[in-house]
Amino acid sequence: MRFEDIIEKKRDKKELTRDEIHYWISNYVKGEIPDYQVSSLLMAIYLNGMNKKEIGILTDEMRISGQIWDLSDIPGLKVDKHSTGGVGDKVSLVLGPMVAACGAKLAKMSGRGLGHTGGTLDKLESIPGFDIHKTYDDFKKQVKEIGLAIIGQDENIDPADKKLYALRDVTGTVGSIPLIASSIMSKKLASGADCILLDVKYGSGAFMKNIDDAKVLAQTMVDIGKELHKDVKAEITDMDQPLGMAVGNNLEVKEAIATLKGDGPKDLTELCISSGVILLKQAKIYDNDEEAKTALINSIKTGAALNKLKEMVKYQKGDVSYIEHSEKFEMASEIIPIYSTKEGYVHRIDALEIGKSSMKLGGGRETLDDIIDMSAGIILNKKIGDFVKNGELLATLYTNKKDIEEIKGDVKNAFNIQKEEVKIDLSKKIFIE
Ligand code: URA
Repeated sequence: MRFEDIIEKKRDKKELTRDEIHYWISNYVKGEIPDYQVSSLLMAIYLNGMNKKEIGILTDEMRISGQIWDLSDIPGLKVDKHSTGGVGDKVSLVLGPMVAACGAKLAKMSGRGLGHTGGTLDKLESIPGFDIHKTYDDFKKQVKEIGLAIIGQDENIDPADKKLYALRDVTGTVGSIPLIASSIMSKKLASGADCILLDVKYGSGAFMKNIDDAKVLAQTMVDIGKELHKDVKAEITDMDQPLGMAVGNNLEVKEAIATLKGDGPKDLTELCISSGVILLKQAKIYDNDEEAKTALINSIKTGAALNKLKEMVKYQKGDVSYIEHSEKFEMASEIIPIYSTKEGYVHRIDALEIGKSSMKLGGGRETLDDIIDMSAGIILNKKIGDFVKNGELLATLYTNKKDIEEIKGDVKNAFNIQKEEVKIDLSKKIFIE
């Protein structure tokens, strides 16, 4: 087989066979096909797409390109949850302990933040001592014993994705739905869970800028599940404003702890409950929405979910006293209020702008090598639908940087305030199965 023939086939909008996709992925991982040829194929896929069958095969070939973690000797169905990323998305830190407290086994590998989006691993690492590295055996032991583990992506899993993602990043081919879907799903399918819930976000702060693209991505990933016989469901949720009030690593962990104490923002709490209902049903712990919902609410009321978070933190060598006394988290040296210069209702909070501003305050990475300031970020004091008076607090910036005049203006401008009242509908969510 010649790789140039495969490139030409996709260039001419023809379907690639399993043998061709296998040839591509297995030889690329071995270093036997140069990046310049794979770049060309990626661009052909970006422009001409792939059909369902090709996407299923590509995902499967990527999945088997490295180690596959088998969790089948842990009793019960293992669940996993993945968000395509957003601003202020600390759902895993709340949802994981909630479903584990209700008897599910959540086995999750997470990623780091880049650019305006945060990453669960960075948030967890803001808890002093927290270790995101686990061997296969330790990961299994933890899931078996406490029903909850969130760790970093093991480098032996899906080496094809690692190489392809790095190449897509520099060849203008990140934003292709077949490539995004196979990248996400191959990693998830190789890490051992029986059931996967995907939260596909859309809006200014998300990968998918509009709901139609989000639907196509969600459906593509659910279809991959069907092709490969896995229980995959997807919800589509909006990222037109950050989720919750906190953006930035230790600020978000503090908000997650408050949410597990029953003191969290409404949008975050409701999303964790509705996602939890789906996960508990996928895990076959409940077959009824109402019972699952009651169990999840009770996991907060009784403190069982908060205890699960503490168990996980302890198991992964983090300092549990930070969960018990969240005031212990390091506080930024500069705390800067942003006041409104308008009166009216908040219609929109540009999540992209808030995410970028948090990154510039030190809370995120512009490049993979940047070091994050765990205490930096933004607390929103108003959300969509709230009324704001002229001179009232809109947001509060946390940073250890001094020269931040421009960021102050950007955060204020991220709020779109209008005279007319605005109705919000937190139940606005699309579900794909
Ligand atoms: N997340 C992934 O893991 N892969 C993509 O291609 C995009 C988002």
